[in-house]
Parts: sequence; C-alpha cells; structure tokens
Amino acid sequence: MSKKPLILGIESSCDETAASLITENSKGIPIVLSNIISSQVEVHKEFGGVVPELAARSHVEKIDWIVKKAIDESGRSIKEIDAVASTAGPGLVVCLSVGLSFGKAFAATINKPFIAVNHLEGHALSPKLNSKIDYPYLLLLISGGHSQYLSVKGLGKYKRLGTTIDDALGEAFDKTAKLLGIEFPGGPHIETFAKKGDPNKYDLPKPIFNKGGCNLSFAGLKTAILKISKTIKTQQEKFDLAASFQKTIEEILYKKTKVAFNEFEKLSNLKEKKFVVAGGVAANKKIRSMLMNLCKKNNYKSIFPEIELCGDNAAMIAMVGLERFKLEEFSSLDHPAKPRWALDEKATFLKGAGVKL
Ligand code: KG4
Ligand code: ZN
Repeated sequence: MSKKPLILGIESSCDETAASLITENSKGIPIVLSNIISSQVEVHKEFGGVVPELAARSHVEKIDWIVKKAIDESGRSIKEIDAVASTAGPGLVVCLSVGLSFGKAFAATINKPFIAVNHLEGHALSPKLNSKIDYPYLLLLISGGHSQYLSVKGLGKYKRLGTTIDDALGEAFDKTAKLLGIEFPGGPHIETFAKKGDPNKYDLPKPIFNKGGCNLSFAGLKTAILKISKTIKTQQEKFDLAASFQKTIEEILYKKTKVAFNEFEKLSNLKEKKFVVAGGVAANKKIRSMLMNLCKKNNYKSIFPEIELCGDNAAMIAMVGLERFKLEEFSSLDHPAKPRWALDEKATFLKGAGVKL
C-alpha cells in the first residue's frame, strides 16, 4: 500500500491559534491525528470583542508550541509530513500573517510543498473529516463573519446562492448576547438562556423573509432586540428574549433553506441530495435538529461537522490541504494574506445601503 499523505494545517485568521495533522485511512477517509486549538477568549474578554493587535501578538507567542504539540500528539515525526497548509484569508491581516509566514517557513525548511487555504473553504470541507462525502452538495455556512448558501460542485468550485446583506448570523448571536449582559463571546450561551425562556413572549422581525431568494438579513432583528433589551427588568425576561431570538432564527433558516433547496435543485441533476451545515453557529443544537427535520421532509441527507470541528480549527485547513495535495495544487511562497477572499469570486457584492434584491 502506498504511503498516505500526512498534512500539517495551521490556522490563525482571527482569535484561535491552531495546528493539526491529518492523513487518510485505507478507504480514503480523512483521519484527524491531532487537533490543537488555543483560544484567546481571556485576552479579549475585557474589550467585548477581538482586538487585532492583541490577537496577533498572542498568535506570535503561541504558534511554535501549538505546532510542536500537534506534531507530538499525532504520533508522527516532522520527516513524515508531506505538505504544509496555512490559512491565507479571509481574516485579520495581522493575524493571518502569523500562521501564513510560519507555514511557508516550515514548508521551505522541510523542503515540502506549501498550500495557501481559504478559511471559508476549510469550513466548507470540515464535514469531510472522519467521513466520506462526495460532491456536489448544498452548503449553509454560518459563522461569526459569514452567512451564505453555496452550491459546492467540487474543490474550489462554488456558486453562491444567497448571502447576508448585513450582519453574519454568529454576529447576531454575539450582539444579542451582549445586550443580554452575557460575557463575550456570548453566542453559544444564547442556547442555554433560550432553554429557560418563553419563545413566544416577543414577536421579533424577520427581515426579507418573503423576498430576496435565500439571501439573509439580521440587522433589523438586532435593532428590535436593542429596543426590547432596554425595557427588560428581570432575569426571566432575558431568558424569554433569548428564546424568542432563537425561535426567530430557526424560522428564518427553515424558510430560507427551503428556498435554497429549490435553487440548488434547479442547478444540477442530483442522484442524492445532500445538505451540509458548517461554521461556528452549526454547533447550535436546536438549529441542527430543526435543519435535520427539514432535510428529512425534503429527502435531503443532512451532514454536520462534529461539534468540535464547527468552530475555527486547523484540521479543516489541513483537509483542504489534503485535497489540494492530491491534485498537486500547490501555492508559491509569495502567496499574500488576503483579508477579503470570497468562495464564489464571481458573485456580486451584496452589502451596505441601497442593496437591490
Ligand atoms: O466559525 P467560527 O468559529 O469563527 C468564524 O469563522 O467566524 O464562528 C464563531 C461564531 C461566533 O459568532 C459564535 O458566537 C458562534 O459562532 N457560535 C454559536 C454557537 N457556537 C458558536 N452561535 C450560536 N449557537 C452556538 N451554540
Ligand atoms: Zn471560521
């Protein structure tokens, strides 16, 4: 049996410093050998958001030992690594530069190919870790910076069907959490609050619910929450607002996903209909179960990354590296850090005032 590729992945686009080694088994299924993530929550907590300069400094301080730990825990040696893949964008340029420069230098030192990876493509391929999923599939990418429906036809072949015209969904979760007095990053805690509240207490707006195809909008919802949060006096009312917010998001995603199913089906002749949900918000258990039910009703196979692979990690970056390595698609050592890098570069920019849907 020929040697299976061993890929080192490195991620530093925002506030997680991460490194991972992956390979594949005899059936060609990608296997995660190590997945080290160091979060900077403590660094940014007092500022209520990510401070780029502090994030970059923290990446610089940690990157060496994170990579060393990933290699040690994988049970493999540096000599066995076949390629190095680093996130090159999108993200904060000062943060991206740390993992990108480290990855390039590492690849050059061990004399192996370097692969520059789009962070969003990492999320898009994250469900492939530890399972076998063939193209094409419909992808809902819901993270702190992006919310998009994409038709994924193959590696690097994306067609955007819908996007947010203002805030990303993770951002809406985080901002709602902040208004409820939950410490940064509060998004994941909304679920816990929501369990204790009445989802029908507040009637919240659902922007562009009945228009704009499967494009999304969350800014109006945030404004409504801001207004209500000023009137809130009790802890129970906070739980009720969280529950109403969670329910509204589920209703929006249910409706928009149905629209996305239709648009996806028009694009290709499908043998099997597959719906992949990825990104940090895909960790939300109620969103997961609601979308699973919707898939059942519409004959879609629903696919989610394991919870620990929903948020930012380097295994997903190595996953893109593995696919590109097999196609011998390598990057040059002068590949730039790209703060903006869309998966579908042909799609029109749909943000800001005056957007026509
Ligand atoms: O993918 P990710 O780790 O980073 C980006 O690439 O943005 O996503 C982070 C986002 C944050 O906004 C966080 O609040 C949200 O994912 N998130 C959640 C949950 N877990 C993480 N939102 C809702 N429910 C969760 N359980
Ligand atoms: Zn991400």
